[in-house]
Amino acid sequence: MRRAIGLGVGLALLGLLLPGSLAFKENEFKKCAQTSFCSRNRNVQQGANFEIVPASVTLNTATLTATLMNKQASKHLQLTLTAHADGFVRLLIDESPSVGRYQVPSDILVSGWETRKAAIKEQSRSANGIVLTTGDTKLELGYAPFTLAVSVKGVPALQVNSRNLFNFEHRRPKQDSDPAGYWEETWMGHTDSKPKGPEAMSLDLVFPGFAHVYGIPERATSLSLQATNGNAPYGEPYRLYNLDVFEYLEDHPFGLYGSIPVMLAHKKGLTVGVYWNNAAEMFVDVVKGRGEVGTQWVAESGVVDLFVFTGATGPAVLAAYAKVAGTTALPQLFSLGYHQCRWNYKDEADVKAVDGGFDSHEIPYDVLWLDIEHTNGKRYLTWDSSLFPNPAAMQEDVASRGRKMVTIVDPHVKRDSSYYIFSEAESAGHYVKNKHGSDFDGWCWPGQSSYLDVTSPVVREWWAQQFTTDKYQGSTRHLYIWNDMNEPSVFNGPEITMQKDNLHYGNVEHRDNHNLFGIYYHMGTADGLKLRGSQVDPENGDRPFVLSRAFFSGTQRVGPIWTGDNAAQWSHLKVSVPMLLTLGLTGLPYSGADVGGFFGNPDAELMTRWYQLGIYYPFFRGHAHLETQRREPWLFGPDVTARIRSAIRGRYALLPHIYTLFRAANTSGQPILRPLWFEFPEQEDLYAEDQEFMVGSSMLVVPVTAPSIFTVDVTFPQGARWYDAATGAPVPPKTKTQRVEVSLNGIPVYYRGGSVVPRRERPRRSTAAQLADPYTLVVALDDKGEAEGQLYVDDGRSFAFQRGLYLHRDFKFAANKLTSSKHVEAGVPDGTLTVPTTIERVVFLGLPPSKKGYKAVISDGASGSKHTIALEAGPLSLATAPESTQAQVLRKPDLPVSHDWTVEIVQA
Ligand code: GLC
Repeated sequence: MRRAIGLGVGLALLGLLLPGSLAFKENEFKKCAQTSFCSRNRNVQQGANFEIVPASVTLNTATLTATLMNKQASKHLQLTLTAHADGFVRLLIDESPSVGRYQVPSDILVSGWETRKAAIKEQSRSANGIVLTTGDTKLELGYAPFTLAVSVKGVPALQVNSRNLFNFEHRRPKQDSDPAGYWEETWMGHTDSKPKGPEAMSLDLVFPGFAHVYGIPERATSLSLQATNGNAPYGEPYRLYNLDVFEYLEDHPFGLYGSIPVMLAHKKGLTVGVYWNNAAEMFVDVVKGRGEVGTQWVAESGVVDLFVFTGATGPAVLAAYAKVAGTTALPQLFSLGYHQCRWNYKDEADVKAVDGGFDSHEIPYDVLWLDIEHTNGKRYLTWDSSLFPNPAAMQEDVASRGRKMVTIVDPHVKRDSSYYIFSEAESAGHYVKNKHGSDFDGWCWPGQSSYLDVTSPVVREWWAQQFTTDKYQGSTRHLYIWNDMNEPSVFNGPEITMQKDNLHYGNVEHRDNHNLFGIYYHMGTADGLKLRGSQVDPENGDRPFVLSRAFFSGTQRVGPIWTGDNAAQWSHLKVSVPMLLTLGLTGLPYSGADVGGFFGNPDAELMTRWYQLGIYYPFFRGHAHLETQRREPWLFGPDVTARIRSAIRGRYALLPHIYTLFRAANTSGQPILRPLWFEFPEQEDLYAEDQEFMVGSSMLVVPVTAPSIFTVDVTFPQGARWYDAATGAPVPPKTKTQRVEVSLNGIPVYYRGGSVVPRRERPRRSTAAQLADPYTLVVALDDKGEAEGQLYVDDGRSFAFQRGLYLHRDFKFAANKLTSSKHVEAGVPDGTLTVPTTIERVVFLGLPPSKKGYKAVISDGASGSKHTIALEAGPLSLATAPESTQAQVLRKPDLPVSHDWTVEIVQA
């Protein structure tokens, strides 16, 4: 279906592209048993084959080095163990550097962590091993066979090779006796020439005392990873190999468009994270039982470069991982609004009508997207001049109402010498090469295409230059970019991607860096928008916005991703939650799923529920396939329009909170959406929960992911008070689960007692129109009658915040006083911005009943003035009617957001 579009004559050649059954074609993708490196390592015991040579073990302050012997092959490997001040240890195993095995380039990670080392102390040494400590962490290195046990304060955290599955295939000359698959492998007519022969590695990682592991996106599956020695399809290992998987299933271990080789394990008192810094194809098995989770990781090439993070809780582990892989780039505020996309908005008149439709239906939105049909024959960075004769004027018009546009730009370049991008890149030698050294030629949307070799910094620099407004004809500074198909997708390639023996910059085989193609393309494009921004605003620049489909560790520093081509089915709505939670747990929180589902036609109820959940997706975009019916939010009848309007307005109301959470993601790597265990790490019954989730630490969201639902059983994490976010009604103390009624008007959402949540409640057409609006604070009290929260504000678009041009406030309610003070964070320049905005309402939830009622005594720290206002009952939000009696509302205190002030609540 999809791939029939734009392929012309190529269609006849490609059976896999023919319209046919609408289903995931599992047999088009390799399984472990059909993959030489996986099948020769999966579950293969190596016995005592790998040993550390005791005399070689040398400890030097923060670094231990040793020779690791492959006895059978009489081969020496180099083992390096380092401890790092940011709270992790790193295990590197490689052959001699002269062999030149591929290592992930340093620009995939951030700089600086390597030199911030921590001391390692030797505790004891014997003929069998050495015991070391670094901080609270104990490292026990066993020699024969090689093992490494990591524990924290006496609690076992991780065992390396305790099941003897470790393997490291060294480079070797070809032997006639080598088994099939070592030097050549054929799959569905594609032969991989494997010029370097076998060089796989197997890592055996056991999490002792743990029952749950999470991570290793991307796939549509549960949050707590199921065992892979189960029934089909879970008898297959999880796979990390970026692929364009057509019509993926909603419950399958198969790997999708992006890969992050990060896994978290959590038990009471301890969270462990592992990251294998390796970009080759990988398979991961998970086996549960005997009070532990065993995992085996097999990668096709590269080196062992394992990072181990430990902490008492999830946030500590993610903060340490962020020191290596970086944090989320602070997005422009507009990009946190609602995005309207479809394949395709046809022409300028269509754009105008859709843009106008949002206004006439009073639904806020920020960005209108154009898919591949807007181009001249899928030549990206050009326009179809009959459909879009005045693209710049169109963008200016949309921008005159405070909105932006996005165009799609894919990495395949149409082989057409009259196309300037093609010919410039061709003459500069910027394309990926085939194994013979000539430009690789693959099929994608435009037909025959070349692929930019974005792994080269020179190519990325050239690519970035294509985005300035003088280069990209018809673009304006209101236009942002969408990168798709960057796994890379090659319709006629093996498994719809590139041949592994293709060659990249530095003569690197595609096999080695396959999973980096997407992030490098994304990086090059984002650099392009940065470059454009530095021309438009030389002083402050413009933060890039580039959506990508493929990703790797570090993508968070570049921009958001979405979960690709889902379907308009309830099951896909449901799985979007664990998929996005998993991305947040692996450092990539800025993500979303296509609202409404890409394939197929959602009915009104599915559409309604998808918007009601989608407003909590960090990246919130409606999108649909070319052949689906139109589904702009007002096309389902007035009742549905009203519900969707109210949902999207709810998103806009919550943006101050969401933007503040993005700041925490930006400074310390914390997720926006969080699994319950992440916030309630001691409650074991929540460890597998993957439907209910938290937005930051202060709101609990309960998705409704099935039709005709009138009641939902809500699980309430214990140790907190909860308040219904629609009514303000407190949930009775100690309620573990409660059956609550739901209508089509919304899904259950609760404030967590102890939180202060900033909101902006005046309905507006876009984020730009909200800029001067006053705030509402919701103060939800905990059992001690206390609460705290934050508000982060900056210009929402430039890099000026990096120079301190931001405002960050802490709100604290204790001893009946709500105070606002400056938020101070180590390692971040002091915030110096002031804004004229005020807080127009403060809504208190959980004040004890009082016959006389309450009043607020307001002291402004800056002016020294004091005045008193009586609190009134409800409404909870400006959009809520009727009045809520559960809330005590302070109206019009007009508290300056930039000042210190105190509001004391006293009996009236
Ligand atoms: C891919 C994308 C989808 C897009 C389509 C056409 O399938 O995942 O979002 O609409 O290509 O560009």
